[in-house]
Amino acid sequence: MFDFEDRARPLLKWAGGKSSLLPQLTIHFPQNFNRYVEPFFGGGAVYFALRNTNIPAILNDRNQELFNLYLVAKNHPTELMNALNTLTKKYSEQFYYELRSENPDDAIEKAARTVFLNKTGFNGLYRQNSKGNFNVPFGKRVTCPALYDYDNLMLVSQKLEKTDFKNLDFEEIIKQSGEDDFVYCDPPYEPLSTTSSFNAYTAGGFSQNDQVRLRDACAAAVQRGAFVAVSNSSAEFIKEIYKEWNVRIIKAKRNINSKASARGEIDEVLVLMTK
Ligand SMILES: C[S@@+](CC[C@H](N)C(=O)[O-])C[C@H]1O[C@@H](n2cnc3c(N)ncnc32)[C@H](O)[C@@H]1O
Repeated sequence: MFDFEDRARPLLKWAGGKSSLLPQLTIHFPQNFNRYVEPFFGGGAVYFALRNTNIPAILNDRNQELFNLYLVAKNHPTELMNALNTLTKKYSEQFYYELRSENPDDAIEKAARTVFLNKTGFNGLYRQNSKGNFNVPFGKRVTCPALYDYDNLMLVSQKLEKTDFKNLDFEEIIKQSGEDDFVYCDPPYEPLSTTSSFNAYTAGGFSQNDQVRLRDACAAAVQRGAFVAVSNSSAEFIKEIYKEWNVRIIKAKRNINSKASARGEIDEVLVLMTK
């Protein structure tokens, strides 16, 4: 069902991106399923490795910028590339901060801004201040990095063609899953300790209550006949709340981290939930 050769790549660098873990994760995924359901889409690395995108898919992410970008990539890939070409020509530190302070109404301009800030900002971070404004500093590269790859963007657009992409809380999405659906959940991770608590994907954050709410929504989906897989950190809290289920350890590399000392290998979990 999954394929690493012909996969599309995410349009953004996204904290928690799963590209490098695909072989280790997908080996545990079911071979056949009815629909694919992904409530925490992020950059989309896992969905883009699905070989047969004629399978109905329900995709979702609560982050508005990301949702808008993927909707534009799906429906207007050429216009998005044109807008990105225009931004590439304007590349400078001053322009970065000008664009960062704007909030375009037009969906295509907004999507191009999201990609530009992500690729030219510091370390590919996505971070908002308490007012919900993107606040990552300029990445100080001498020239503008490639903002997209033509073939990849067209492949992304094609792979999204038949999907239903939503911008809701995960519970609304998991509720829709049923018999023989495969639900893959990659929520914001529970911090291992206070020093590794980079958990600010959106202004709201993700609490331990949310982790429990997710577990319960997944357990209900299993009761309806779905196969569920959930990624998370190996925090004691996570092992505890999933102790009734099949918890596998996955060896991951951490790379979105501003502290070089915190790069390296780290245990994650993949929880497999079936009846
Ligand atoms: C770890 S990332 C997913 C990474 C993704 N698998 C990838 O490969 O890029 C978690 C995502 O959950 C989203 N998110 C956070 N809270 C959410 C909620 N309550 N409902 C739905 N999505 C949420 C964030 O916007 C973020 O994109």
